[in-house]
Amino acid sequence: MELTNKKTVLVLLCFRPVLAIYVASAPITASAPVPPPISQPPTVVPSDPQIKSLCAKTEYPDLCLTTIAPFFNGKTDIASVVEMLIKAGTEQTKQANATATKMAADPKYADDPKTISGLKGCYEMYDDALDNMQNAMDAIPVHDIGTIETMVSAAITDYGTCDDGFTRQPNPVPDGVSPMVDINENLQNIGSIILAITDLLH
Ligand SMILES: *[C@@H]1O[C@H](CO)[C@@H](O)[C@H](O)[C@H]1NC(C)=O
Repeated sequence: MELTNKKTVLVLLCFRPVLAIYVASAPITASAPVPPPISQPPTVVPSDPQIKSLCAKTEYPDLCLTTIAPFFNGKTDIASVVEMLIKAGTEQTKQANATATKMAADPKYADDPKTISGLKGCYEMYDDALDNMQNAMDAIPVHDIGTIETMVSAAITDYGTCDDGFTRQPNPVPDGVSPMVDINENLQNIGSIILAITDLLH
């Protein structure tokens, strides 16, 4: 009896480290057949060299990687990367629209009808940008590179037009500065990344 107990403890001790490594690495290696020997931190940036090299060809390599990360599906061909980036751009455009919606409800802007109307103009621009992103997405499987470029460029213009809704105020307060400017700049940079990688499809 005592011997059996000792044996059980020994067996448990032997397996515990293996189990710990397996459990620690399970969430990031769910699809990998063999867990890596060292459990990695839950990094969100794809470490794939092909993705890195594609992103390095854009003006914003770091933003490229972090933008792809939540949509990275393991594929590294250019068309798939363009697809992941368009999905990311779509998601971030929806988030921008939600931010604009929250802002419009902020008591801070209650007595500021110009800002409210500017934000409402942004809803329309984000809506249009989403249509353009969808059209770009639809053009990927048919290899219509020109349409991808036209549509992503149109989305970039939409983000700028949202900002223009504030800068064209007749009586610029802290004037003419769009409260969405940082978000729009980020969206425009993502658009520029998509264009740079789409260009590699030629
Ligand atoms: C953007 O926000 C407005 C206001 O909340 C909403 O009416 C509209 O449906 C939103 N558009 C999208 C595409 O989510």
